[in-house]
Amino acid sequence: MKSLIILFIGCVAHIQAGVYTDRFLSQYKKIHDSGNGYFSKEGIPYHSVETLMVEAPDHGHETTSEAYSYYVWLEAMYGAINGDFSSFNRAWDILEKYTIPTHEDQSSNDNYNPSSPATFAEEKDTPQDYPSKIDSGVSVGEDPIYQELVSAYGNSDIYGMHWLTDVDNVYGFGDTPGGGCENGPSANGPSYINTFQRGPEESVWRTVPQPTCDSFKYGGSNGFLDLFIDDSEYAHQWKFTNAPDADARAIQAAYWASKWADQKGQLGSITNTLSKAAKMGDYLRYSLFDKYFKKIGNCVGASQCAAGKGKESAHYLLSWYYAWGGSMGAQYGWAWRIGDGAAHFGYQNPLAAYALANESNLKPKGSTAVEDWKKSLDTQLEFYSYLQTPEGAFAGGATNSWKGRYATPDSNLTSNTFHGMFYDWEPVYHDPPSNNWYGMQAWSVDRLAQYYYVTGDSKAKTLLDKWIPWVVNNIKFSGNKFQIPSNLAWSGTPGNNLHVSISSYNDDVGTASSTARALAYYAAKANDNSAKTAAKQLLDVMWENYQTSKGVSVEEPREDYRRFNEPVYVPSGWTGKYPNGDTIDSSSTFLSLRSWYKNDPEFHKVEAYMNGGGAVPTFTYHRFWAQADVALAQGAYGLLFNE
Ligand SMILES: *[C@@H]1O[C@H](CO)[C@@H](O)[C@H](O)[C@H]1NC(C)=O
Ligand SMILES: *[C@@H]1O[C@H](CO)[C@@H](O)[C@H](O)[C@H]1NC(C)=O
Repeated sequence: MKSLIILFIGCVAHIQAGVYTDRFLSQYKKIHDSGNGYFSKEGIPYHSVETLMVEAPDHGHETTSEAYSYYVWLEAMYGAINGDFSSFNRAWDILEKYTIPTHEDQSSNDNYNPSSPATFAEEKDTPQDYPSKIDSGVSVGEDPIYQELVSAYGNSDIYGMHWLTDVDNVYGFGDTPGGGCENGPSANGPSYINTFQRGPEESVWRTVPQPTCDSFKYGGSNGFLDLFIDDSEYAHQWKFTNAPDADARAIQAAYWASKWADQKGQLGSITNTLSKAAKMGDYLRYSLFDKYFKKIGNCVGASQCAAGKGKESAHYLLSWYYAWGGSMGAQYGWAWRIGDGAAHFGYQNPLAAYALANESNLKPKGSTAVEDWKKSLDTQLEFYSYLQTPEGAFAGGATNSWKGRYATPDSNLTSNTFHGMFYDWEPVYHDPPSNNWYGMQAWSVDRLAQYYYVTGDSKAKTLLDKWIPWVVNNIKFSGNKFQIPSNLAWSGTPGNNLHVSISSYNDDVGTASSTARALAYYAAKANDNSAKTAAKQLLDVMWENYQTSKGVSVEEPREDYRRFNEPVYVPSGWTGKYPNGDTIDSSSTFLSLRSWYKNDPEFHKVEAYMNGGGAVPTFTYHRFWAQADVALAQGAYGLLFNE
């Protein structure tokens, strides 16, 4: 009896008790309460509980690889606090099943020729300039990692997340993961889809959503293909796009799971999942390369710029995407792969790079993978330094391919390059400019701070020593509210009057949580009391004043919802249909391509406004990433300071 009691007490002592870890558990419970609507019946986390939602996804019940990555992280921390890592394994299983294409989904990879990864087509400035002509006259470099991946894993398929899924099959394409192509509106879902394909001005309001597997059943006579690419003939085909920041976040979460499980003596229960995360990191290297594997540095002129040999085409930064595709069936038999020459500082993840280079449980099998991630870590740290303003915030990024077509950059960009890549204050998208959103700072610097916490690297500390006071000085508290930066404005170029200013503030709980977590990790390592105090105050004010029945959130005005009426460019004479019969032609608008939005319970809030009347509609959203971030920030503070 006595020994039982002692055992019991010993057990209790192992469970973390504290205000902040309790808050984690309380928020975790709300996210998992089936009445709150965060997950589909398959267990897939939706982008948001609310369905009327337009930002990067164009519907709340789509999901993204971002949401999956937050889900994995949430469950890793649940293990750290509760001692049970089975839900971490389960989250990875869901991710794998529903967002990593199966062999059937990417069936023609064996036909891929790594010495000719893809055929060049220019990116254009506006959607009106599309379709873009395919140009086999432009030389492309070789893919130097294909063969070692095949050797390591015994097949030619890619293990990476496709970024966007229509979980409820609202569009009706029925591109079922692992289950065939264009099964139509009667399929249950989830269904892989894709959006953006038409340059930096093609925001969500101007895009034509399309299936990932196109057998010409929907769209026009060539499916959706000839909206984007001008070719002499078109074949049935599949294609997927990866968002590297999300894969890196999933790997970062796996890193924490390995540390936390090790502390709890549970490492053995997750090693299988860790090896899958390592495998994802092997393939994530595609994002470290130029889009057409051309040589990095002063790559000007599509025909002039040299095709890369070996690793000459690696910039070693986490770029905006990698993508892969191929023909359906054996009839034509081809496949392609692209990297991306454009890198945003906000996508960098030094902790994931460090984990893949240095953590034995996360060691990728590819023969040069560890070396590549080591170089990536060093390059990422150098990139932050290149982009840091004297104020502390980080400016946009750099590209190896100006305007996405190896164009000649403005003359003010040709000195002070990043290893010959040109500074871009708004990499990849311009509507709105990609680095105006403060969230990029909070997300990326949080990862930098975690890397610093783990390694104590003085290079990271130097960067953070400038960023942390900038943000601390720009968090405002008044009564039971806080304000943090919302939008930023940029001027100058690296080394030449590069500056940031804050153009607006808000009280977004997602970015505030990432900010608090960055402050907490920095404070714990650097012993910085002002960072710790600011983190704690943000967490407390948010927790005590922003509760909703489903999580923690604030109302936000959506002036951009006026754009439900915005015309979507479709070339004159082009006509096609969505699975539900919605017409696609030159009179299309955002709403006409999505007539199903008229049945949304909240549509009435948008209708009057988009027609020029009524007040700006407001929404209190529960985005999966933001609600997970709330939990993860409270939990991280609790784990770090045990308060
Ligand atoms: C990480 O791994 C690299 C490459 O193996 C090595 O050079 C470096 O010293 C390691 N860093 C740490 C902090 O262990
Ligand atoms: C570089 O010069 C161009 C052309 O004068 C100008 O439009 C652009 O804003 C400048 N870029 C930066 C980052 O200052």
